[in-house]
Amino acid sequence: MTEKQTIKSTIQADTWNRKNVVSVSQFTESAIDALFELTDRLKAMGRFQLRQWNPLSGYVLSNLFFEASTRSRISFASAFQYLGGSVDNTVGVVFSSISKGESLSDTIRVVQGYVDVIVLRHFAVGSARIAADNSTTPIINAGDGIGEHPTQALLDLYTIYNETKRLSDLTIAVVGDLQHGRTVHSLVHLMRLYTNIHIVAIAPNDLQLPADSVHTLQVSGIRVTQTDDFKVGIATADVIYMTRLQRERFQSESDYEQFEQLYILNRALTESVCKPDVVIMHPLPRTSEINPDVDALKQAAYFRQTDNGLYVRMALFLLVLLSPSELRNHLNTV
Ligand code: CP
Repeated sequence: MTEKQTIKSTIQADTWNRKNVVSVSQFTESAIDALFELTDRLKAMGRFQLRQWNPLSGYVLSNLFFEASTRSRISFASAFQYLGGSVDNTVGVVFSSISKGESLSDTIRVVQGYVDVIVLRHFAVGSARIAADNSTTPIINAGDGIGEHPTQALLDLYTIYNETKRLSDLTIAVVGDLQHGRTVHSLVHLMRLYTNIHIVAIAPNDLQLPADSVHTLQVSGIRVTQTDDFKVGIATADVIYMTRLQRERFQSESDYEQFEQLYILNRALTESVCKPDVVIMHPLPRTSEINPDVDALKQAAYFRQTDNGLYVRMALFLLVLLSPSELRNHLNTV
Protein backbone atom coordinates (compact mmCIF):
# COMPACT_ATOMS: atom_id res chain seq x y z
CA MET A 1 0.00 0.00 0.00
CA THR A 2 1.38 3.44 -0.92
CA GLU A 3 1.56 6.23 1.64
CA LYS A 4 -1.22 8.15 -0.12
CA GLN A 5 -3.54 5.11 -0.02
CA THR A 6 -2.72 4.64 3.64
CA ILE A 7 -3.73 8.20 4.48
CA LYS A 8 -6.92 7.87 2.44
CA SER A 9 -8.05 4.72 4.25
CA THR A 10 -7.37 6.35 7.62
CA ILE A 11 -9.46 9.41 6.92
CA GLN A 12 -12.31 7.32 5.52
CA ALA A 13 -12.51 5.45 8.80
CA ASP A 14 -15.02 7.66 10.58
CA THR A 15 -16.15 4.80 12.81
CA TRP A 16 -14.19 6.38 15.68
CA ASN A 17 -15.46 9.95 15.28
CA ARG A 18 -17.20 11.25 18.45
CA LYS A 19 -17.50 7.67 19.78
CA ASN A 20 -16.95 6.49 23.34
CA VAL A 21 -14.24 3.85 23.79
CA VAL A 22 -15.67 1.63 26.51
CA SER A 23 -15.08 -2.01 25.51
CA VAL A 24 -13.11 -3.98 22.92
CA SER A 25 -16.41 -5.56 21.88
CA GLN A 26 -17.21 -2.35 19.93
CA PHE A 27 -14.12 -2.58 17.68
CA THR A 28 -14.08 -3.91 14.12
CA GLU A 29 -11.11 -5.16 12.17
CA SER A 30 -11.34 -2.28 9.69
CA ALA A 31 -11.52 0.34 12.47
CA ILE A 32 -8.41 -1.16 14.04
CA ASP A 33 -6.63 -1.21 10.66
CA ALA A 34 -7.34 2.51 10.31
CA LEU A 35 -6.12 3.22 13.83
CA PHE A 36 -2.90 1.30 13.25
CA GLU A 37 -2.23 2.96 9.88
CA LEU A 38 -2.51 6.34 11.54
CA THR A 39 -0.35 5.13 14.45
CA ASP A 40 2.36 4.07 12.00
CA ARG A 41 2.27 7.50 10.41
CA LEU A 42 2.53 9.33 13.75
CA LYS A 43 5.37 7.08 14.85
CA ALA A 44 7.22 7.82 11.62
CA MET A 45 6.76 11.56 12.20
CA GLY A 46 8.32 11.26 15.64
CA ARG A 47 7.94 13.57 18.57
CA PHE A 48 9.97 16.46 17.14
CA GLN A 49 7.73 16.90 14.08
CA LEU A 50 4.58 16.10 16.06
CA ARG A 51 5.10 18.90 18.56
CA GLN A 52 5.14 21.43 15.72
CA TRP A 53 1.94 20.11 14.14
CA ASN A 54 -0.76 21.06 16.72
CA PRO A 55 -3.84 19.40 15.17
CA LEU A 56 -5.57 19.45 18.60
CA SER A 57 -4.70 23.05 19.42
CA GLY A 58 -7.46 24.48 21.64
CA TYR A 59 -8.84 21.06 22.65
CA VAL A 60 -8.99 20.12 26.34
CA LEU A 61 -8.72 16.64 27.89
CA SER A 62 -9.90 15.76 31.38
CA ASN A 63 -7.83 12.88 32.73
CA LEU A 64 -9.96 11.49 35.60
CA PHE A 65 -7.89 8.87 37.40
CA PHE A 66 -9.61 7.50 40.50
CA GLU A 67 -7.24 4.49 40.73
CA ALA A 68 -3.44 4.33 40.66
CA SER A 69 -1.73 4.63 37.28
CA THR A 70 1.59 5.60 35.76
CA ARG A 71 1.58 4.52 32.10
CA SER A 72 -2.03 5.16 31.12
CA ARG A 73 -2.34 8.55 32.80
CA ILE A 74 0.99 9.91 31.58
CA SER A 75 0.79 8.48 28.06
CA PHE A 76 -2.76 9.78 27.51
CA ALA A 77 -1.68 13.20 28.79
CA SER A 78 1.55 13.27 26.77
CA ALA A 79 -0.19 12.08 23.62
CA PHE A 80 -2.73 14.89 23.92
CA GLN A 81 -0.08 17.52 24.62
CA TYR A 82 2.17 16.45 21.72
CA LEU A 83 -0.87 17.03 19.48
CA GLY A 84 -1.22 20.58 20.79
CA GLY A 85 -4.03 20.08 23.32
CA SER A 86 -4.25 20.94 27.02
CA VAL A 87 -4.75 18.44 29.84
CA ASP A 88 -6.41 18.73 33.21
CA ASN A 89 -5.47 15.87 35.56
CA THR A 90 -7.56 14.67 38.51
CA VAL A 91 -5.58 12.07 40.43
CA GLY A 92 -7.22 10.14 43.24
CA VAL A 93 -10.73 10.28 44.66
CA VAL A 94 -9.50 12.47 47.51
CA PHE A 95 -8.91 15.39 45.13
CA SER A 96 -12.32 15.21 43.48
CA SER A 97 -15.77 15.97 44.82
CA ILE A 98 -16.51 12.23 44.75
CA SER A 99 -14.81 12.34 48.18
CA LYS A 100 -17.68 14.63 49.29
CA GLY A 101 -20.26 12.09 48.16
CA GLU A 102 -20.85 13.18 44.57
CA SER A 103 -21.89 10.36 42.25
CA LEU A 104 -19.81 9.42 39.22
CA SER A 105 -22.70 10.27 36.91
CA ASP A 106 -23.02 13.80 38.38
CA THR A 107 -19.25 14.30 38.13
CA ILE A 108 -19.30 13.29 34.47
CA ARG A 109 -22.33 15.46 33.69
CA VAL A 110 -20.40 18.45 35.00
CA VAL A 111 -16.96 17.69 33.53
CA GLN A 112 -18.36 17.01 30.05
CA GLY A 113 -19.42 20.65 29.98
CA TYR A 114 -15.83 21.81 30.49
CA VAL A 115 -13.78 19.64 28.13
CA ASP A 116 -13.68 17.92 24.72
CA VAL A 117 -12.82 14.37 25.84
CA ILE A 118 -12.66 12.50 29.15
CA VAL A 119 -10.28 9.63 29.97
CA LEU A 120 -11.56 7.71 33.00
CA ARG A 121 -9.91 5.18 35.27
CA HIS A 122 -12.20 3.97 38.02
CA PHE A 123 -12.26 1.10 40.51
CA ALA A 124 -15.76 -0.16 39.62
CA VAL A 125 -16.58 -2.53 36.76
CA GLY A 126 -19.03 -0.79 34.45
CA SER A 127 -18.02 2.74 35.50
CA ALA A 128 -16.97 3.70 31.96
CA ARG A 129 -20.39 2.61 30.66
CA ILE A 130 -22.10 4.75 33.33
CA ALA A 131 -19.90 7.69 32.35
CA ALA A 132 -20.64 7.24 28.66
CA ASP A 133 -24.39 7.12 29.37
CA ASN A 134 -24.13 10.48 31.14
CA SER A 135 -21.98 12.35 28.64
CA THR A 136 -22.19 13.81 25.18
CA THR A 137 -18.41 14.29 25.36
CA PRO A 138 -16.51 11.15 24.32
CA ILE A 139 -15.43 8.89 27.21
CA ILE A 140 -12.33 6.72 26.93
CA ASN A 141 -12.13 3.83 29.38
CA ALA A 142 -8.64 3.66 30.91
CA GLY A 143 -9.55 0.71 33.14
CA ASP A 144 -12.74 -0.06 35.09
CA GLY A 145 -11.85 -2.26 38.05
CA ILE A 146 -11.33 -5.86 36.96
CA GLY A 147 -13.47 -5.20 33.86
CA GLU A 148 -11.67 -3.89 30.77
CA HIS A 149 -8.79 -1.74 29.59
CA PRO A 150 -9.57 -1.39 25.88
CA THR A 151 -6.82 1.05 24.89
CA GLN A 152 -4.24 -1.21 26.54
CA ALA A 153 -5.55 -4.01 24.34
CA LEU A 154 -5.16 -1.78 21.28
CA LEU A 155 -1.54 -1.00 22.09
CA ASP A 156 -0.93 -4.66 22.92
CA LEU A 157 -2.37 -5.70 19.57
CA TYR A 158 -0.32 -3.05 17.77
CA THR A 159 2.80 -4.42 19.51
CA ILE A 160 1.96 -8.00 18.57
CA TYR A 161 1.60 -6.91 14.94
CA ASN A 162 4.85 -4.95 15.00
CA GLU A 163 6.78 -7.79 16.57
CA THR A 164 5.35 -10.79 14.68
CA LYS A 165 4.07 -9.10 11.46
CA ARG A 166 0.73 -10.89 11.80
CA LEU A 167 -2.49 -10.94 13.82
CA SER A 168 -3.68 -14.41 12.86
CA ASP A 169 -2.12 -17.87 13.32
CA LEU A 170 -0.85 -17.04 16.79
CA THR A 171 -0.45 -18.95 20.03
CA ILE A 172 -0.65 -16.45 22.88
CA ALA A 173 0.18 -17.56 26.42
CA VAL A 174 -1.44 -15.29 29.01
CA VAL A 175 0.11 -15.80 32.42
CA GLY A 176 -0.65 -14.83 36.00
CA ASP A 177 -3.73 -13.34 37.59
CA LEU A 178 -6.20 -13.97 34.80
CA GLN A 179 -9.18 -13.64 37.13
CA HIS A 180 -8.55 -9.99 37.98
CA GLY A 181 -6.39 -8.82 35.07
CA ARG A 182 -8.45 -6.43 32.97
CA THR A 183 -5.73 -6.09 30.33
CA VAL A 184 -5.90 -9.82 29.69
CA HIS A 185 -9.70 -9.73 29.58
CA SER A 186 -9.60 -7.05 26.88
CA LEU A 187 -6.76 -8.58 24.87
CA VAL A 188 -8.15 -12.12 24.61
CA HIS A 189 -11.56 -10.79 23.61
CA LEU A 190 -10.02 -8.54 20.98
CA MET A 191 -8.33 -11.59 19.45
CA ARG A 192 -11.82 -12.84 18.46
CA LEU A 193 -11.50 -10.60 15.40
CA TYR A 194 -8.65 -12.74 14.05
CA THR A 195 -8.32 -16.30 12.77
CA ASN A 196 -6.51 -19.37 14.05
CA ILE A 197 -5.83 -18.00 17.53
CA HIS A 198 -4.86 -20.30 20.38
CA ILE A 199 -4.98 -18.80 23.88
CA VAL A 200 -3.00 -20.73 26.49
CA ALA A 201 -4.23 -19.47 29.86
CA ILE A 202 -1.60 -20.22 32.52
CA ALA A 203 -2.80 -19.68 36.08
CA PRO A 204 -3.71 -21.58 39.22
CA ASN A 205 -7.34 -22.71 39.19
CA ASP A 206 -8.49 -19.90 41.49
CA LEU A 207 -6.99 -17.24 39.22
CA GLN A 208 -8.00 -18.66 35.85
CA LEU A 209 -9.90 -16.74 33.18
CA PRO A 210 -13.57 -16.33 34.16
CA ALA A 211 -15.65 -19.23 32.82
CA ASP A 212 -17.95 -16.95 30.83
CA SER A 213 -14.92 -15.43 29.08
CA VAL A 214 -13.64 -18.87 28.13
CA HIS A 215 -17.07 -19.78 26.79
CA THR A 216 -17.29 -16.57 24.74
CA LEU A 217 -13.85 -17.17 23.26
CA GLN A 218 -14.60 -20.77 22.35
CA VAL A 219 -17.93 -19.89 20.76
CA SER A 220 -16.02 -17.34 18.65
CA GLY A 221 -13.69 -20.04 17.33
CA ILE A 222 -10.70 -19.37 19.57
CA ARG A 223 -8.94 -22.47 20.91
CA VAL A 224 -8.43 -22.12 24.68
CA THR A 225 -6.11 -24.30 26.74
CA GLN A 226 -6.11 -23.79 30.51
CA THR A 227 -3.18 -25.05 32.55
CA ASP A 228 -1.22 -24.30 35.70
CA ASP A 229 2.00 -25.70 34.17
CA PHE A 230 4.12 -22.68 33.30
CA LYS A 231 6.91 -24.46 31.40
CA VAL A 232 4.59 -26.54 29.26
CA GLY A 233 2.29 -23.58 28.65
CA ILE A 234 4.97 -21.18 27.38
CA ALA A 235 6.87 -23.72 25.27
CA THR A 236 4.73 -23.38 22.14
CA ALA A 237 3.83 -19.70 22.49
CA ASP A 238 4.51 -17.09 19.80
CA VAL A 239 3.65 -14.41 22.38
CA ILE A 240 3.96 -14.65 26.16
CA TYR A 241 1.83 -12.04 27.95
CA MET A 242 2.96 -11.97 31.57
CA THR A 243 0.87 -10.21 34.22
CA ARG A 244 1.35 -9.44 37.89
CA LEU A 245 -0.84 -10.72 40.69
CA GLN A 246 -3.32 -7.92 41.38
CA ARG A 247 -2.57 -7.62 45.06
CA GLU A 248 -5.10 -4.82 45.52
CA ARG A 249 -7.95 -7.06 44.30
CA PHE A 250 -7.47 -9.88 46.83
CA GLN A 251 -9.76 -10.13 49.89
CA SER A 252 -6.84 -10.52 52.28
CA GLU A 253 -3.05 -10.45 52.36
CA SER A 254 -2.94 -14.22 53.08
CA ASP A 255 -5.10 -14.90 50.00
CA TYR A 256 -2.51 -13.00 47.96
CA GLU A 257 0.56 -14.54 49.58
CA GLN A 258 -0.42 -18.10 48.66
CA PHE A 259 0.09 -17.21 45.00
CA GLU A 260 3.02 -14.82 45.26
CA GLN A 261 6.07 -15.70 43.16
CA LEU A 262 4.16 -18.48 41.40
CA TYR A 263 5.43 -17.92 37.86
CA ILE A 264 8.72 -16.19 37.19
CA LEU A 265 10.15 -15.85 33.71
CA ASN A 266 13.91 -15.45 33.61
CA ARG A 267 16.61 -15.52 30.97
CA ALA A 268 17.55 -19.17 31.53
CA LEU A 269 13.94 -20.32 31.17
CA THR A 270 13.40 -18.15 28.10
CA GLU A 271 16.47 -19.58 26.39
CA SER A 272 15.85 -23.20 27.36
CA VAL A 273 12.07 -23.54 26.98
CA CYS A 274 10.65 -20.86 24.67
CA LYS A 275 10.65 -20.51 20.90
CA PRO A 276 13.72 -18.47 19.86
CA ASP A 277 11.55 -15.73 18.33
CA VAL A 278 8.98 -15.60 21.12
CA VAL A 279 7.68 -12.10 21.93
CA ILE A 280 7.59 -11.37 25.66
CA MET A 281 5.04 -8.76 26.66
CA HIS A 282 3.68 -7.34 29.91
CA PRO A 283 1.20 -4.48 30.40
CA LEU A 284 3.34 -3.36 33.37
CA PRO A 285 3.80 -2.57 36.17
CA ARG A 286 5.71 -5.77 36.89
CA THR A 287 6.55 -7.06 40.32
CA SER A 288 8.61 -10.29 40.38
CA GLU A 289 7.12 -12.20 37.43
CA ILE A 290 9.76 -11.15 34.88
CA ASN A 291 13.32 -11.21 36.15
CA PRO A 292 15.27 -8.11 35.06
CA ASP A 293 17.79 -10.41 33.33
CA VAL A 294 15.18 -10.83 30.57
CA ASP A 295 15.21 -7.10 29.79
CA ALA A 296 18.29 -7.23 27.56
CA LEU A 297 16.97 -10.11 25.41
CA LYS A 298 15.66 -9.22 21.96
CA GLN A 299 12.50 -11.16 22.84
CA ALA A 300 11.66 -8.66 25.62
CA ALA A 301 9.11 -6.35 24.00
CA TYR A 302 7.50 -4.79 27.07
CA PHE A 303 9.24 -1.43 26.89
CA ARG A 304 8.62 -1.21 23.14
CA GLN A 305 5.01 -1.99 24.09
CA THR A 306 4.81 1.01 26.46
CA ASP A 307 6.42 3.26 23.82
CA ASN A 308 3.78 2.16 21.31
CA GLY A 309 1.08 3.25 23.74
CA LEU A 310 1.93 6.91 23.23
CA TYR A 311 1.35 6.73 19.47
CA VAL A 312 -1.71 4.47 19.60
CA ARG A 313 -3.32 6.94 22.02
CA MET A 314 -2.39 9.88 19.80
CA ALA A 315 -4.06 8.16 16.83
CA LEU A 316 -7.11 7.42 18.95
CA PHE A 317 -7.53 11.05 20.02
CA LEU A 318 -7.23 12.23 16.41
CA LEU A 319 -9.81 9.74 15.15
CA VAL A 320 -12.24 10.41 17.99
CA LEU A 321 -12.00 14.21 18.03
CA LEU A 322 -11.49 15.22 14.40
CA SER A 323 -13.94 14.65 11.58
CA PRO A 324 -12.56 12.73 8.59
CA SER A 325 -12.24 15.96 6.59
CA GLU A 326 -10.52 17.81 9.45
CA LEU A 327 -8.08 14.93 9.87
CA ARG A 328 -7.46 14.84 6.11
CA ASN A 329 -6.69 18.56 6.09
CA HIS A 330 -4.28 18.26 9.01
CA LEU A 331 -2.51 15.26 7.47
CA ASN A 332 -2.11 17.14 4.21
CA THR A 333 -0.04 19.80 6.03
CA VAL A 334 2.69 17.35 7.10
N1 CP B 1 -0.67 -0.88 31.95
C1 CP B 1 -1.25 0.05 32.76
O1 CP B 1 -2.45 0.27 32.70
O2 CP B 1 -0.39 0.67 33.60
P1 CP B 1 -0.82 1.80 34.64
O3 CP B 1 -1.71 1.14 35.66
O4 CP B 1 0.48 2.30 35.21
O5 CP B 1 -1.58 2.86 33.88
